[in-house]
Amino acid sequence: MGLTTDQRNADPDVVELGSETICVSFQTRDGMAEVNVPKGTSILDAALQAKVDIETTCGKRGTCRSCRIKVLSGQVPPETQQDRQQLGTEELQERFRLSCQTKAIADCTIVPSPPKSEAGLKVLNAEPARDKLRGAISSGVEKHLVHPKPPVDENEETSDLEEVMKTIETGAGARPKLSVLRKLPELLRDGKDGLTVTLFNGDIVDLEKGDRTDHAYGMAFDIGTTTIAASLLNLNTGEQLASVSGVNPQAVHGGDLMSRISFAQFDEKKLAVLRGKLLTAMNDFISEAAEQAGIERGNIYKIVVVGNTCMHHVFLGIDTSHVGLAPYAPAFRDPLVIPSGEVPLKNAPNAHVCTLPIIAGFVGADTIAALLASRIYENDTIQAVVDIGTNGEVVLGNKDRLMACSAPAGPALEGGEISQGMRAAVGAIDAIELQDDDVVVRTIENAPAIGICGSGLIDIVSKLRDRELVNKRGRLLHKDFEQLPKTLGQRFVQTEKSRGFCLVSDTDSGSGQDIVLTQADIRQLQLAKGAIYSAILMLQRVMEVRDEDIDTLYLAGGFGNFINLDSAIKIRLLPPLDHDRISYVGNAAQQGAELALLSESERENTAKIAARIEHVALATRMEFQELFVDACDLQ
Ligand code: FES
Repeated sequence: MGLTTDQRNADPDVVELGSETICVSFQTRDGMAEVNVPKGTSILDAALQAKVDIETTCGKRGTCRSCRIKVLSGQVPPETQQDRQQLGTEELQERFRLSCQTKAIADCTIVPSPPKSEAGLKVLNAEPARDKLRGAISSGVEKHLVHPKPPVDENEETSDLEEVMKTIETGAGARPKLSVLRKLPELLRDGKDGLTVTLFNGDIVDLEKGDRTDHAYGMAFDIGTTTIAASLLNLNTGEQLASVSGVNPQAVHGGDLMSRISFAQFDEKKLAVLRGKLLTAMNDFISEAAEQAGIERGNIYKIVVVGNTCMHHVFLGIDTSHVGLAPYAPAFRDPLVIPSGEVPLKNAPNAHVCTLPIIAGFVGADTIAALLASRIYENDTIQAVVDIGTNGEVVLGNKDRLMACSAPAGPALEGGEISQGMRAAVGAIDAIELQDDDVVVRTIENAPAIGICGSGLIDIVSKLRDRELVNKRGRLLHKDFEQLPKTLGQRFVQTEKSRGFCLVSDTDSGSGQDIVLTQADIRQLQLAKGAIYSAILMLQRVMEVRDEDIDTLYLAGGFGNFINLDSAIKIRLLPPLDHDRISYVGNAAQQGAELALLSESERENTAKIAARIEHVALATRMEFQELFVDACDLQ
């Protein structure tokens, strides 16, 4: 039997692509954005074309809620199963949909789901690295005040440049940038107070009028899958002058590395889209940091960039397709030094960009930077670095042997794929106290709760487990409900999607909604922490290291300013070490990038460290699956 036109329009699977043009209007905070798309285009793709950012944490698989939209007007197809699972009847009745699952079938007006307030987003920035530096600052940037004279005698065979070169000790052989040569004639004849010549590793990168020797700056960038952190340092003193951070804008193309890689796989244009978003954000960060510090962007001469292999390749415009396919080989692993114009990072026109070496497809330059900051590569005792991010990395070893592996934790520990998850921003629940008869939540900056961040998730599940309100397998228990104090018992709710534990009621929350930890959230946490813990266990097994042999475990990552170590051990995210053997070091990758910024010898050392690391590919180990399944259990 054939379908009527109405039935056809109502069934997203039988919409004829391209047969008609639909106008989709997006009502955003910045005003209306309209786009005409072929009928059958997903609302998410329409948003991308209209340059409206919508997060896609699960990579359009219909398994998260980050791409949620509200349909203000116009017809849309009936909800899909994924819509029902993620949104529930109430939201569906209010015309909420998942934009990745909803096709445009008629002109419509859409409001992208307002992101949970991230105005106060605080991505953890590292402590300044200056104190950790070995030896004096030697960034490779040198500024000299010189007093060259313009050529005066026609018979003298010379040039402006040669006259400048004579005044610089290291001048012989120095290669000037074209932009320096362009301003040389005028500056040389106008420079009664002298000229400041700036060299980077012996090459002339800048020329200024007068004494500007105090103005030498550099930046360190850590490009994470979810967040980007950057700092601006004075290269003469090592002082950190500004620190900026924010969400990686590529998140609209998927929350984890594989989603990003598959978005741009074998598609140059899409790679350019990812890269464009990243470079725009980085250029903005350069301007913002320069403004914060009150310096001129032209005086930024060195930028060290670290990030996982995928981010590193995207930053450089290198195809990531093969990083996502076995054997997951990066295009190259060596460190690079290139003029910023080649990237381009146009907001730092006189800088050289330095990238650090890579170990493998999923163990990148950020791991090398974290190692540099931890110094575990030169220790007698066995130490570990556990860097928790969307993709976690674990390194174990000492001065004799170092092994590394990656753990695809996913974004749960950063608040992604959690029904009311959020990053460590103002209003995030980051800890709870489970009293005899009720629960008290703690939020960042004591603001009304609007969601749960990674450290909160760890603490909540651990405390629920303590009271046996969650079993070892992660199941929320309802059965002895009546025996619980009434206030606590009432917190167990049955949402449409799954059972849950209500932490904050709609009347007390900052979002006007109940803040509920669902059974599915606990499952996501188990998968994330199981990935990290099994990676630690695997390295311990390969290296024959017992828990008691680990002298110090450096826990790195930006999933919260506070982490309850007891809780992290209780949920089996970390091995059961005494607390004084675990050190939370915040963003160690960023700190390592700063060390490489301040010291060329530290930067050069990264290649030696990288060459010593043995990469353990977990998926190829027979016993890994078993370890992972066990590691998903709680204590
Ligand atoms: Fe659409 Fe996750 S449900 S991106």
